[in-house]
Amino acid sequence: MALVTTKEMFKKAFEGHYAIGAFNINNMEIIQGVVRAAKSQNSAVILQVSKSALKYANPLYLKGMVDAAVAETGIDIALHLDHGPDLETVKECIDAGFTSVMFDGSHYDYEENVAKTKEVVEYAHAHGVVVEAELGKLAGVEDDVKVDAANATYTDPDQAVDFVKRTGVDSLAIAIGTSHGAYKFKGEAKLDFDRLEKITEKLEAEGIHNFPIVLHGASSVDQASVETCNQYGGQINGAKGMPAEMLRKAASMAVCKINMDTDLRLAMTAAIRKSFAENPSAFDPRGYCGAARDYIQEIVTKKIQEALGSVDSMK
Ligand code: G3H
Ligand code: 13P
Ligand code: ZN
Repeated sequence: MALVTTKEMFKKAFEGHYAIGAFNINNMEIIQGVVRAAKSQNSAVILQVSKSALKYANPLYLKGMVDAAVAETGIDIALHLDHGPDLETVKECIDAGFTSVMFDGSHYDYEENVAKTKEVVEYAHAHGVVVEAELGKLAGVEDDVKVDAANATYTDPDQAVDFVKRTGVDSLAIAIGTSHGAYKFKGEAKLDFDRLEKITEKLEAEGIHNFPIVLHGASSVDQASVETCNQYGGQINGAKGMPAEMLRKAASMAVCKINMDTDLRLAMTAAIRKSFAENPSAFDPRGYCGAARDYIQEIVTKKIQEALGSVDSMK
């Protein structure tokens, strides 16, 4: 068994009207929590690493642990660079053995995004690695860059078609209402499903069939995790995320990859806060890190069943 790319995963996901979960990893407990959940549901999974996670954990350590996860579980796992900022980081990850990379040029003007993405695609494809790009701007915070709601822009369907044709990307992250972080909506959650449908229709009309769309900023901000954090000394107020039913609807359309990080952060923090409060005399990290790992497994299992629909995608 070896790491796989997302090609086959997305083909099956598109045809089967479900999505593969892409979970951000930073350490062993998160990796084990996520892959144990995926294994228990017989589901393929994407483990993704941001630039700041690369800096925190070192790509060699992450790749080593992910290889161990592949060997232990036998499920299809892709190792993906999340929000790659430049060709240099993309090359670093491809050299380290990643099977998928994202180049995020969404903050550049359109022509510059096209040119830089194309360069990444040429390099990655020459090395057997697939590429995700982004068009449109999500609100929220990622890698210390904050985009406020007023500066977020939804993806233009005609531009999306032009972008895919000119860059040769394998999948495209679009902006239709999700945002990064724990504060996604003040009022009702809303997603522009019409725009998603239009993008697929226009791609199909140009002969680009079953093209996989990616949804970033898709954590549900599970209220049980938030409440547990707050019950045990946290101060997380007004946090709100994407309802699972809306994600499931997007997954039944062209969305083949759904990104979640915030939910894992909340789960880990909730479990550790609870463990500290309930066991004040304990000081073995395996106790509280183990509790965090178990809770992540529980949360990810629910996501696979309710939001992604990827149960038995390994069949
Ligand atoms: O979309 C961004 C992810 O949540 C990664 O966040 O850069 O703090 O690791 P990070
Ligand atoms: P969340 O902040 O909603 O978890 O989104 C994570 C993400 O998009 C990673 O790329
Ligand atoms: Zn993202």
